[in-house]
Amino acid sequence: MSPLIQATGLSKHFSGLRAVSEVSLSCERGMIHAVIGPNGAGKSTLLNLLSGETKPTDGMVFIADQDVTGFSSHQMSLKGVGRSYQRTNIFDNMTVLENCNIAVQSRSRISMRFLGTTSNYPDIESQSKSILKRVGLLSVAYQLVSELSHGAQRQVEIALALATNPDVLLLDEPLAGMGAEESQTIIDLLRDIRLDYAMILVEHDMEAVFALADFLTVMLNGEVIESGLPQKIRASKKVQSAYLGEDAGE
Ligand SMILES: Nc1ncnc2c1ncn2[C@@H]1O[C@H](COP(=O)(O)OP(=O)(O)OP(=O)(O)O)[C@@H](O)[C@H]1O
Ligand SMILES: [Mg+2]
Repeated sequence: MSPLIQATGLSKHFSGLRAVSEVSLSCERGMIHAVIGPNGAGKSTLLNLLSGETKPTDGMVFIADQDVTGFSSHQMSLKGVGRSYQRTNIFDNMTVLENCNIAVQSRSRISMRFLGTTSNYPDIESQSKSILKRVGLLSVAYQLVSELSHGAQRQVEIALALATNPDVLLLDEPLAGMGAEESQTIIDLLRDIRLDYAMILVEHDMEAVFALADFLTVMLNGEVIESGLPQKIRASKKVQSAYLGEDAGE
């Protein structure tokens, strides 16, 4: 089976800085591929390259077998790549449902000028509601995002990524700033939905990473220093020394 998403030799240089340097990875549906590494390792930049937000200096990206190198984020979204952000990326002064409607619309081909009149599109609203139900947010559908707890706002972020109906889900620190209970809710959610997506998960919470990941890639200073199954990563001296003296937690 060919991977749903694959990167080969992916690099991104900012002036002289090698933020991402010759990274290769792949992910299949039903698999969670965690990308870990200390602050500044290049993890978010890698996700930006995979989601089309940043164009690579070098290397290639494939979705299924199609070369999508250099595609824009909108084109990548149409190819089935959804992502959540390290910092929340939602409209605070709108309801959870309104946010979700916009995300559903972004992949459907309905013109953007109908934004704000989504109630004319019951199919959009019903898709939104089924996503909110799936992530456990249906009961707060009509609340403003600004009224929600930090943890619930992060759940909204995941709902918005799912609302674009992706095959590949790129998650950048979905557990950032959460307490233990909120984290567990998200871990359970990701476990529930894992079979439907090829998931690439960037996360600092190692307990969560090892609870979820089927495969790991470890980055340091833009480079992959180790990759493999969880037991290999746990035992790796290279990985342990990369984290020594680093603040790997949030
Ligand atoms: N747009 C940019 N212009 C210049 N340098 C950048 C840009 N984006 C990221 N960098 C640099 O690239 C390196 C990698 O950053 P990146 O945000 O990808 O790291 P990260 O692994 O996600 O870190 P963290 O765990 O703190 O989120 C850092 O040195 C960062 O300062
Ligand atoms: Mg980051």
